Amino acid sequence: MFTFENKTVVVVGGTSGINLGIARCFAKAGANVAVVSRSQEKVDAAVKELKALGANAMGASADVRHFEELVNAMDSFKDRFGEFDVLVSGAAGNFPAKAMDMSANAFASVINIDLLGTFHVMKAAYPHLKKPGASVINISAPQSYIAADFQSHVCSAKAGVDMLTKNLAREWGCEGVRVNSVVPGPIEATEGMNRLAPTKALQDAIIDNVPLGRNGTHEDIGNCCMFLSSQFASYISGVILPVDGAWSLGGYSVSMNAMQNIMSQPKN
Ligand code: NAP
Ligand code: COA
Repeated sequence: MFTFENKTVVVVGGTSGINLGIARCFAKAGANVAVVSRSQEKVDAAVKELKALGANAMGASADVRHFEELVNAMDSFKDRFGEFDVLVSGAAGNFPAKAMDMSANAFASVINIDLLGTFHVMKAAYPHLKKPGASVINISAPQSYIAADFQSHVCSAKAGVDMLTKNLAREWGCEGVRVNSVVPGPIEATEGMNRLAPTKALQDAIIDNVPLGRNGTHEDIGNCCMFLSSQFASYISGVILPVDGAWSLGGYSVSMNAMQNIMSQPKN
């Protein structure tokens, strides 16, 4: 069991899906947990849930595309919980679309949430990171290193996220701050899977392609984040770590063929 008692953990995008799962894991391990996302309703619900797990929890509504909103959120977390031991940046947007079916604004919306948003999160949190000692984790995606149909925006954005991880692992290493990316594979009960694997046939095709034979869980990702933020990972920085049952080693081909069929159906 990991313990994060008296530690401060900030999870951006931590009000649903995988990121809320990460927040839950740290809450159960005794951390003070702060979450951020756009919807005040989702923030309130997540904070309530984290408190019910016994954690000191707080939240703030902010759009990662707006730097000043994040600065205000981070300042409020620092005032209440002190310097940050762990920062998780996981806000993201995704929809399947061919590059030529996207407006410039559609492409930009994903770049601005995933890539620029990650930069904003890291920059806004930086003054409050514990130095030395903080662990920063960017939640990436296999699209960062596998070209995938209908995902040019996400592939571009997440490749940028992983390069930012490596750059800041170098720049912040001398201050004792570690920066890593965690790359979830197909994770059950998530908005990402709802959007990219909308049919049972596609979900089955994906599981068939996972050597470990199952989808990942929120806990699989949360446990990895706790390990990376623990003393057992004190020499690990600048790593892009897939947590995907070896799925990404096989590429996207099977699920992409099925997705091709879905996307080629006439829309009602
Ligand atoms: P999700 O439930 O939709 O989580 C996204 C979170 O980000 C929500 O809390 C959302 O809340 C917040 N968010 C979105 N846009 C935002 C913005 N502009 N500003 C601030 N917060 C914003 O999705 P998920 O599937 O669990 O994905 C979570 C992370 O895992 C993402 O980084 C995704 O790329 C990565 N991932 C997922 C999978 C998968 O299997 N699902 C696989 C690989 C990687 P609001 O709507 O309130 O803003
Ligand atoms: N195909 C093509 N373009 C699309 C699209 C689709 N399926 N969905 C949205 N767009 C376009 C919109 O038309 C708009 O472009 P326009 O202004 O030229 O018309 C642009 O994308 C932005 O859409 P909008 O809904 O205004 O943006 P938003 O800021 O409210 O939401 C999204 C951002 C689009 C990424 C939205 O899906 C979102 O909020 N996602 C968060 C949750 C999520 O994606 N979770 C999974 C994470 S893996």
